[in-house]
Amino acid sequence: MELNKLIRENLRKYSAFETSEQLTDADWVKLHTNENPFPPIPEVLNDIKKAINESVRLYPDPTAFELRKEILNVLLRDKETLTNRNSVFIGNGSDEILDVIFKVFIDPGDEVIVFYPSYSLYKIIATLYNAKINEIQLNEDFSIPDEVYSVKGKLMFINSPNDPNGKSFGNATILKICGNFPGIVIVDETYADFSTQTCLPLLKKVKNLIVYRSFSKGFSLASLRIGYALAAAEIIKEMNRVKLPYNTNYLAQVAALSSIKHSKKIFENNKKILEERERLSEELNKYDGISVLPSDSNFIFIKFEDKSKTLKFVWDLKELKILVRHFSKPGLYNYIRVTVSTEKDNDVFINAFRTIANKYL
Ligand SMILES: Cc1ncc(COP(=O)(O)O)c(C=O)c1O
Repeated sequence: MELNKLIRENLRKYSAFETSEQLTDADWVKLHTNENPFPPIPEVLNDIKKAINESVRLYPDPTAFELRKEILNVLLRDKETLTNRNSVFIGNGSDEILDVIFKVFIDPGDEVIVFYPSYSLYKIIATLYNAKINEIQLNEDFSIPDEVYSVKGKLMFINSPNDPNGKSFGNATILKICGNFPGIVIVDETYADFSTQTCLPLLKKVKNLIVYRSFSKGFSLASLRIGYALAAAEIIKEMNRVKLPYNTNYLAQVAALSSIKHSKKIFENNKKILEERERLSEELNKYDGISVLPSDSNFIFIKFEDKSKTLKFVWDLKELKILVRHFSKPGLYNYIRVTVSTEKDNDVFINAFRTIANKYL
């Protein structure tokens, strides 16, 4: 058997998504994968524990009926967005939603618009589906260039707030894009729980928009894999037709429902992350030779004036058992992305940074 001849042709040149190191040793300070530093609150953990009983023998609700209801009635109540339960799709993490969107819309050769830099998975999945990729370079300040208003294609992916720089794109820009783009605009709001901005209200104004969000970051449920998308009911209907029958598991649905029930308390806890984001930014902005970009997310993006110093920081931090994210990619060599963590971990980072800065800055 020649496996190489059996697998799909485009897989022969396909580079899969590289997941970051998942170190479980407690002595590592993990500031590289943008996880929430706080565990799920005890109320949510208790609800998950209570749900671990003989009923795991049964298949979960394939429609996640309760969860869709509570997302609209409680979680998004104040967001001035769609209210029809048939406008909500539940996915196995927001990453699955991305895959489902490709399954619905993309035939080989169809054009997909992505931005650079942004979350790399859009381009990777586009390659997997044999789409034609039009990658548009963001402006130097990470804003969207005007050329976007004249591009054609089937799908366009916008990450807001954008990974890796951390800033949201304004709704005026997104609305104008939707008005000009002939295909579907998808806004990935995985980090929006840390931002004051959301484009959810735009769903009432335009029909060619899908907004998706996650329970991974704002709700500390990354491991359970659950996220949701909102769009016109006719789009969600197609997404439901192609998803795997039992795509989200029972415990994840229970955890998400419990998180919604206790969302006030969870958002209150998350305020500490926002305060820490400001503290970290202020501390680091005191150094000459680096600057911290404004962020609406649970991470910050640090720019080094001297590119050659960037990796020295990354390596020295790793020696001190602190992991941060560096992208060895054009235009990004002189940046590091740092997840905002607990006060204690952020102090460890700030102190280590000071020691290294004494050597290099
Ligand atoms: C921009 C962006 N979208 C989606 C995801 C994945 O989210 P989920 O855990 O909901 O699949 C990530 C994960 O880091 C991300 O950075």
